[in-house]
Amino acid sequence: MSDKSTGRQETGQIDTVMQEERLFPPSAEFSAQARVRSLEEYQKLWEESTANPEAFWGQLAQEELHWFEPFHTVLDWNEPVAKWFVGGKTNVSYNCLDVHLTTNRRHKAAIIWEGEPGDTRTLTYLQLHREVCRFANGLKSLGVKQGDVVSIYMPMTPELVIAMLGCARIGAVHSVIFAGFSAEAIADRNNDANAKIQITSDAAWRRGKQLPLKLTVDEALEKSPTVEKCIVLRRTGAEVEMREGRDVWWHDLVDAQSDDCPAEPLDSETTLFILYTSGSTGKPKGIRHTTAGYNLYAKKTFQWVFDHRDEDLFWCTADCGWITGHSYVAYGPLSAGATQLMYEGAPNWPQEDRFWKLVEKYRVSTFYTAPTAIRAFIKWGDQHVDKYDLSSLRLLGTVGEGINPEAWMWYHEKIGGERCPIVDTWWQTETGGIMMSPLPGAIAAKPGSCTKPLPGIVPKIVDESGREVEPNHGGMLCIAHPWPGMLRGIWGDDERYREQYWTKVPGMYLTGDNARQDNDGYYWIMGRIDDVINVSGHRLSTIEVESALVSHPQVAEAAAVGRPDELKGQAIAVFVTVRDAEPNDALAAELKLHVRKEIGALAVPSDIHFTATLPKTRSGKIMRRLLRDIAAGTEIVGDTSTIEDYSALAKLRDDEE
Ligand code: WT7
Repeated sequence: MSDKSTGRQETGQIDTVMQEERLFPPSAEFSAQARVRSLEEYQKLWEESTANPEAFWGQLAQEELHWFEPFHTVLDWNEPVAKWFVGGKTNVSYNCLDVHLTTNRRHKAAIIWEGEPGDTRTLTYLQLHREVCRFANGLKSLGVKQGDVVSIYMPMTPELVIAMLGCARIGAVHSVIFAGFSAEAIADRNNDANAKIQITSDAAWRRGKQLPLKLTVDEALEKSPTVEKCIVLRRTGAEVEMREGRDVWWHDLVDAQSDDCPAEPLDSETTLFILYTSGSTGKPKGIRHTTAGYNLYAKKTFQWVFDHRDEDLFWCTADCGWITGHSYVAYGPLSAGATQLMYEGAPNWPQEDRFWKLVEKYRVSTFYTAPTAIRAFIKWGDQHVDKYDLSSLRLLGTVGEGINPEAWMWYHEKIGGERCPIVDTWWQTETGGIMMSPLPGAIAAKPGSCTKPLPGIVPKIVDESGREVEPNHGGMLCIAHPWPGMLRGIWGDDERYREQYWTKVPGMYLTGDNARQDNDGYYWIMGRIDDVINVSGHRLSTIEVESALVSHPQVAEAAAVGRPDELKGQAIAVFVTVRDAEPNDALAAELKLHVRKEIGALAVPSDIHFTATLPKTRSGKIMRRLLRDIAAGTEIVGDTSTIEDYSALAKLRDDEE
């Protein structure tokens, strides 16, 4: 071991073993009609924006949002408390709906929706506005006031978006809970938030079956004493029990309401929503986002990253239970006057081709999904893709985890027809919107890299002492200047907010991820800080080992973790799902050889566990913490045959998100 690497260990830097040199510039044709057309143009924009962020964001806020009253101060920053566009009054629902009604978008489709059983609905901006007004009036009739928390547990129907916008219209705070969570998880969140109203549906369609949402909510409400009313959407027609005095049908509530509900002028810093995420330790935290800054950031990042044009049909496959569904289903696209496809169900129902069938049917132009979905498509096989005409697509995106370069290549070739740029978007629930991503007309992609920061964003990579590291060394990823979409805190826990994000590295927002920059200034996310594997003093990132495995033709998915090792400190254990090979000792030996060849002896795994599926959080992230316990032998697994299905264990760890 060299002196240099010993030094790195002390300062917490991370070694990189990955070499990915392929470069994919956008076509001249794509760039020519893009919003930002060249690297030079991007650089100029980024430099201007970061030289004077307040002037930059202030001007955008004036141009892009409707103001009932103008703001007098762009940013009031008293670390870690940020106030953006101070003194101004606006309304997110107004910016998503009313602003379009006086333009030729008035009768444009806002949402083209398809249910899992194949039923369809289209809502124009005018129609969506009407539904939101009626629902907001319904909330008012139940006594909902500004600042009241409304808990939403619903399937991906237009009413989910209507409910969110209805809250925003009157200044109520929504807390959307993904409709796969348990009664316990709902109750925990309702109690933490002091929720006053619950919204749900009778049931939800999932792979042809009905998930009994109302039944789960009934159980949750037994333990949610602050909830006074429960609004129930009829979706599947399943029979439910309506509790007298508490439960009200959605249709009964809105049928009696007027179409007229003026948007409330709200202070810029009015809480728009809280969204629970558990992060790395235990108790879920309610990430709090506010009105003007979040709205501006969701809108602008949507336009920049997806290079949005009025004639596009945008499809983000995320559920509104996650931040991606907040920023790139609800608020970003609607503020920008986009037309979007919204799909209710599973990607493999009734068959594994459903997404491609939808792309062909509706002529989707921009498609945004998660690496976990892409790896599933690869595993399901190309025959499900090849049947369809995907030529309407012009741009693809990913979010949620790093994408292994080989999965990127498959996405590029099979879905993008080698024609569509791919935007690998790095961001977090906390950041409110995309922070790093190629601007597709301007920045050439490298498979596995989120490339460069968006305008106004200043990332820094630092070591344990807070010093910036050199190119090609990994360190902790921080953000050096506040941005409008940043979280404003953790609901009811100011101390945890300060502690978690603003203490370890002075003066900067700590993302909790590791990253490195390459010689071209491109950023590569290396995984969570807690997931680093330390082999003989070399600190390795999980994604690099995983990507080496996924580049083997027989590997569908891989997760790498460290386990205690007397000699090396830690040894690498990997969990692998295969495509159609026999998972045996010979394949294990071959995979070790493959990793040695791809990235070197240091990264060769000591243990290879074949598994039928990897345990995932509900949002699709690999549960490395659980795998770490399994690899170390501290998590009891019943059966030790070669093929395990650890996802059953994942289900026992309910709140891990
Ligand atoms: C964490 C945030 C952002 C919306 C969905 C997830 C990981 C996210 C990428 C990416 C590598 C990524 C990070 C981040 N992550 N996008 N493009 N490349 N890693 O939101 O649940 O708050 O998770 O997801 O580790 O910190 P979230």
